[in-house]
Amino acid sequence: MAILITGWLGYIWSHAVVAFAQKWYDIVIVDNLSNANISVLEKLTTLIGKQPKFCQIDLKNSEDVKKVFQENKIDGVIHFAAFKAVGESCEDPFMYYENNIGGGVSLYKTMNEYWVKNIVFSSSCTVYDTMNTSPPYDENTPKKTINPYGSSKWMSEIILEDLATHKGFNAMFLRYFNPIWAHPSGLIGENPKGTPNNLLPYIYKVASGEYEYLNVRGDDYPTPDGTCIRDYLHVMDLAEAHVAAYEYLQKNAQAEWFLDVFNLWTGQGTSVLEIIQLTEKAIDKKISYKIWLKRAGDASTVYANPSKANSLLGRTTKKTISEAIQDGWRFINNH
Ligand code: WQD
Repeated sequence: MAILITGWLGYIWSHAVVAFAQKWYDIVIVDNLSNANISVLEKLTTLIGKQPKFCQIDLKNSEDVKKVFQENKIDGVIHFAAFKAVGESCEDPFMYYENNIGGGVSLYKTMNEYWVKNIVFSSSCTVYDTMNTSPPYDENTPKKTINPYGSSKWMSEIILEDLATHKGFNAMFLRYFNPIWAHPSGLIGENPKGTPNNLLPYIYKVASGEYEYLNVRGDDYPTPDGTCIRDYLHVMDLAEAHVAAYEYLQKNAQAEWFLDVFNLWTGQGTSVLEIIQLTEKAIDKKISYKIWLKRAGDASTVYANPSKANSLLGRTTKKTISEAIQDGWRFINNH
C-alpha cells in the first residue's frame, strides 16, 4: 500500500517525501510541475536511495487522477497541492478557487470512488480571524479570512468536514504557520519560478545580489518595530510532523469517520525587521531594504499556540530560524 503525495516537487512536499521515505512508506507523487522542476526528482532519489513513483498530472483532470488510483494501491493521501501566495490570491482569486478548491474536489471524488478515506490536508493559519482575536492562535480560534488564499483553505476544510460526516472520510487538517524551506543537505528547497512572493526567497535574492533591496511591506503595524510578525519554522520540522500526523490518523481513524486539526507551529513570533537581522547574522551578508506600502490581505501579528501538536503528535519544533535560514542559503548556493 502506498501514500499518495500531491503537490509541487519544489516545496514542503519534497521534504515530506524524504520524511515518509525514512519511515519506509511507499510513495506515489503527483504534480503538474506548474511551479517546480522535474530535476527535484533526481535529488529526492539521491536523498532517499530510490526513485519515488512520479505521475505528472493536474488534479483538476479527474480522468488522470482516476488512472493514478487505478494503477496504484493507495492507502491514504497527503494533499499539499495548492497555490500559496497571499498577495497573488488577492490579485487573482479565481486562480486560487479553481486550483486549490477545484483540484481538491476532483481528488476527493476519486478517493471516494476508490474507497480511500484517509487524508491529511495542508491547511493554513490564514483561516483564523486575526482581525478580531489575539495571538497565540489555538485550533479553536474563530475563523474569518482576509484573503482568497485563506478562504480557499477554509472552504477546503468545510468540504472535507462534509465528506467526513457524509462519506466516512478520516481527515486531518494541519494549519501551517510560516515554513522556511530547505533540506539541510542543500539539495532540495524552495525555488519558486519568477519573482518570489514570500519573504525568505526574496531576501535570498537580495543577499545574492540579484535584487538591490527588499521592500518591507509596511512599518506602521501595531507591533514593537511596526513590521508584521509571523511564526517561522524549519520545513523539515514541518515535514516530519506530517509523518506523525499520518500515523496519528491511522491510529485514530474511526469505522464511521474522523476529523482533527493541528497547528504547525513554534509559538514564537518574529518581525520582518528581525528576520532581516537574523539573516544578516546567519549568512553574513548585508540585506538592504526600503519601507514600502502594506501588502493587501496581510495580518499584523500571527503566531501559534503550539500545545496541541506538541502533546498529541508528540513533537516540538527542533530547529531554529537561524538554522532554517542557513539551510535555505546553502540550497540557494547549490543552484
Ligand atoms: C511574511 C511577511 C509580508 C515579502 C504565508 C504563506 C502561506 C501561509 C501563511 C501556510 C509578511 C512580509 C513579504 C516581501 C515583505 N502559510 N514581506 N516583503 O503572507 O505570512 O503567508 O504564511 O499556509 O502559505 O504564504 O508569508 O513570506 O509572504 O510574508 O515585507 O517582499 O513578510 O508582508 O508580513 P505570509 P510571506
